[in-house]
Amino acid sequence: MAASARRPGPFPMSSIKKQITALREQLNEHSWRYHVLADPVVSDEDYDRLYQALVELEGAHPKFIAADSPTQRVGEAPADGFAEVKHLAPMLSLDNAFNEEELAAFDKRLKERLKREDEIHYAAETKLDGVAVSLLFEKGKLTRGATRGDGFTGEDVSANIKTLRSIPLVLRSTGHPARMEVRGEVFMTKDGFSKLNESQEAAGEKVFANPRNAAAGSLRQLDPKITAKRPLRFFAHGIGAVEGGGMPASHIDILRQLKEWGLPVAAETERAPGLQACLRFYKKLLKKRDSLPYEIDGIVFKVDDLRLQEELGFVSRAPRWAVACKFPPEEKLTEVLAIEAQVGRTGALTPVARLKSVFVGGVTVTNATLHNMDEVERKDVRVGDTVVVRRAGDVIPEVARTLPDKRPPATTPFAMPKVCPVCGAPVERAQDEAAYRCVGGLRCRAQLVQSILHFASRRAMDIEGLGEKLVEQLVEKGQAQNVADLYKLKQEAVAALERMGEKSTENLLQAIEKSKDTQLERFLHALGIREVGETTARALAAHFGGIEKLRIASEEELCEIHDVGPVVAKNVAGFFSDRENTAIMDEIIQAGVNWPEREGSGDKPAGGLQGQTFVITGALPSLSRADAKDRLLAAGAKVSGSVSAKTNCVVAGDKPGSKFDKAQALGVKIIDEAELLALLSSTERAGQN
Ligand code: IVH
Repeated sequence: MAASARRPGPFPMSSIKKQITALREQLNEHSWRYHVLADPVVSDEDYDRLYQALVELEGAHPKFIAADSPTQRVGEAPADGFAEVKHLAPMLSLDNAFNEEELAAFDKRLKERLKREDEIHYAAETKLDGVAVSLLFEKGKLTRGATRGDGFTGEDVSANIKTLRSIPLVLRSTGHPARMEVRGEVFMTKDGFSKLNESQEAAGEKVFANPRNAAAGSLRQLDPKITAKRPLRFFAHGIGAVEGGGMPASHIDILRQLKEWGLPVAAETERAPGLQACLRFYKKLLKKRDSLPYEIDGIVFKVDDLRLQEELGFVSRAPRWAVACKFPPEEKLTEVLAIEAQVGRTGALTPVARLKSVFVGGVTVTNATLHNMDEVERKDVRVGDTVVVRRAGDVIPEVARTLPDKRPPATTPFAMPKVCPVCGAPVERAQDEAAYRCVGGLRCRAQLVQSILHFASRRAMDIEGLGEKLVEQLVEKGQAQNVADLYKLKQEAVAALERMGEKSTENLLQAIEKSKDTQLERFLHALGIREVGETTARALAAHFGGIEKLRIASEEELCEIHDVGPVVAKNVAGFFSDRENTAIMDEIIQAGVNWPEREGSGDKPAGGLQGQTFVITGALPSLSRADAKDRLLAAGAKVSGSVSAKTNCVVAGDKPGSKFDKAQALGVKIIDEAELLALLSSTERAGQN
């Protein structure tokens, strides 16, 4: 360059541009060292200082902001929620193996299929417990991030994906394909998860049950500014479609290539040359599991050679060439601090062990159910015992067994209290029942809280936002002495409750108002009559059509209804003969709770589809499954979850499942939605005449 061209002015733009570029490159380099190499050379504070410097410079000179600047990670929220995206190649799922034998069987199957005796080489990886995503890179640039969805179509979460510093906005190095889908897992470290929950709790916000839920919830935030604050990480574990460029012919080499392009890959990834090596890897990771900074729920083995993968192909939606070897439910030792009886909605007492807190299966556990007295006796759990606590997946933590050798001297077996720990009413055990019950009824605060929660629950009156903490306060303050009181709540009273701001007060009152337009079956279910679940409530509603005939029905009459036996009939008739119950019910109706009255099937000849069993499979074009089911039930049909020779008809929508194949095999009649609608409208018309 000629010397005269470098005329320094008062604002040497070229030097500012250079400064911005240098800062940007430094920051990207630090991110990469941290996330991909796990070898940072600066502290978080140093990173933040550099970042701040870049923010300021770019603020003063916005024309020098590059697309891959770390300041560009937080963008605008999508205006209409997440758009749908079609994956270029489907996102598959994995078959499971639950023990060594199943893994050996998998290896044997593959050898047979490939007609070979020498060992198959596998790529061994951790199975991360997070959210599957697909990242689209076009000419090396990150252009889209999507969730898995149904495997074919997912949600466009690009704005949120870009906030993850471990994901490069632009790939490093050279040789990128023109288009490439990178598949991987967005997850939260154990540490990040507990810090997030601490700050959520301090701010009075929702705490997450486990790192996976926290990751999923954070990735599906509409506002990327919130996602940016969540400690989300990413590991790549494969590729989807690749266009305009080549990739290595081994899975391990693909991962190595992705890493070279700046994508993080889990360090615990190895080549396992044969079944024995796979088993060794599995055992090694099982031991290491607790000390890993993130949750894993098993190991994934993939045939390493891509030509073999291709030869093996797929069965329905899982590749034949890969398997997930699940870890057994995690178990930890802890101590029983107390055993208490918890009172449920119907007064049943459940023994619950209060435990010294322990992190197991991805959550901090302080309570574990002991199910019932028989279980307590069988396991002989006592206060002071050291016990094995187990938790798998999303199930409630339980005490697996006690260690009698570690029992301190002078312990006593647990006995159910003689009086209710909440209200002091007597506790009884009916002769034919396993459960002990508090006889306090709704005078017992615990039963009242639980019955209000049941009344408001999603499948009953569906009052959104009315959770346990709120109901406890309402009961405590005497604002809700029964479920009818919910409809009398005043704005000031709700606003006075803890953690209720103006907006949440308004939302709750609106949700209560909205619940007034309901259906008879929901209302009956909400009443919490013992043993009247959703199905029975539906049968009662269909038979009587309205509440007036139901409330005067005799046990005998109730017994005639399909699905109603003598015990349920007794409970129902008993419920409606109790003055207090009917008074509360009338108050609710007075308050405006209403449902469309209809003619009950008990009043007219049986519905047109009486005695016929239907099965629904696949997505129907216009009706939701629940609506289709309701209308079939109203027409007198039964709706079953599985196809058998007794099935009269299968209604098949889009992407029907195995039920469709079974129906074909059994020669069961198959109809589509249009035929179903025609059938329903003809029977519904006949019913009106
Ligand atoms: S491969 C072709 N590898 O597990 C197979 N999946 O059950 C596609 N997952 O949806 C998946 N760690 O979210 C693969 N190392 C790993 C994985 C992994 C976690 C998740 C993934 C997938 C699910 C399948």
